[in-house]
Amino acid sequence: MPSDIQPLPDYSEASITEAFTHLLHDLESDAASILSDEQIETFRLRWEGRKQGRLPDISGIWLKGAPDPATRKAIGEQFAKLKARFVELYEYLRSPERLVKVPVSEPGLVLEFATQGGTIERNLKKYASPLDITLPGTTRAPGIPHPLLKTMHEIVSVFHHLGYSTNLGPQVESDFYNFEALNFPPDHPARDTQDTLLIAAQHTRPSRDRLLMRTHTSPVQIRTMVQQKPPIRIVIPGKVHRNDAADATHSPIFHQVEGLCVDTNITFSDLKGTLDHAMKALFGSDVKTRFFPSFFPFTEPSADVQISCIFCGGKGCRKCKHSGWIELLGCGMVDPAVFAAVTAERNKDRRELDPRDDAYNPERITGFAFGMGVERIAMIQHGISDIGHFYSGDMRFLEQFA
Ligand code: PHE
Repeated sequence: MPSDIQPLPDYSEASITEAFTHLLHDLESDAASILSDEQIETFRLRWEGRKQGRLPDISGIWLKGAPDPATRKAIGEQFAKLKARFVELYEYLRSPERLVKVPVSEPGLVLEFATQGGTIERNLKKYASPLDITLPGTTRAPGIPHPLLKTMHEIVSVFHHLGYSTNLGPQVESDFYNFEALNFPPDHPARDTQDTLLIAAQHTRPSRDRLLMRTHTSPVQIRTMVQQKPPIRIVIPGKVHRNDAADATHSPIFHQVEGLCVDTNITFSDLKGTLDHAMKALFGSDVKTRFFPSFFPFTEPSADVQISCIFCGGKGCRKCKHSGWIELLGCGMVDPAVFAAVTAERNKDRRELDPRDDAYNPERITGFAFGMGVERIAMIQHGISDIGHFYSGDMRFLEQFA
């Protein structure tokens, strides 16, 4: 089989240069791909072999066919260079110092070592390989729970120990669950405190069905009561959304843990005892709680719960604005109007002869609810002064919770 050398298209200087540039490039890549002694021999035959070698054919076809002495000289010079490079490469490949390139798993890296003579380590040093096996390896840090999730789990776990179970609800919520059933009538000013993003193109729907990003986890109270009868003891962790400008203590997206307990004979003392226990479990048994009158449309009476300042022990400091108390969560007894909305919803599809559902009759059933901000609790637990740290993804912050 003859080599692939064809007569030159013409003997112009450009054609000659291009042909040799091409060949030189081929020669280099041919030599670079060699891994075994057998391949060295194939390499030799491809270039120098008497019958199929390229070099003899270049000499026989191009050089001998040159139209004049000047062209012959030009081809001769290039030919000599190519041949010299071949000899050089061939000798190198056969020498005991030859490098063998071995691809390693790291992309783009090649491990080079000599085929013979000396240990691999010595050769690695000698040839300054791009892979230094004496360097420490790349370690990947195992992931950790985000500090917010950790605090959220802690809160939830305190209530799990009290026999509560967890319930979840959607972040895209209907006006009915987020507001109406919770006794925020349409146009009631209490809605102003919980402005949020509305889902577009909802105006053709009845107002109770219009969708929005939920502003609190309280709609899951309603979802749960519509689905199941008392007794209920649930905690509801989740993400909520409000039209609040971001600052050191506010974020338009944040997290809450809600609680709901509904049964016969549930009193305000149960609420106080439960939350007092929960605050001690979260912040330490020295912590005191106090309940301040407040307002929520869906609880009556309503209260804000304050804990004695965990930074100064109640003496008064900058963190508690020198009051000795830190406000932490909202709570109250479930408003009978909420039970009425739940009852109406539970009877919505009742046919004439079906018995009316009365599981949430406020004469028999009472309950309490509470809701707390996870960010706020985590900030107090860890002494974090800017809520933005939680969302920045800065590893220097996050690693401190490993
Ligand atoms: N949902 C209220 C809020 O987000 C908190 C709350 C929950 C208050 C349950 C009372 C009872 O502000």
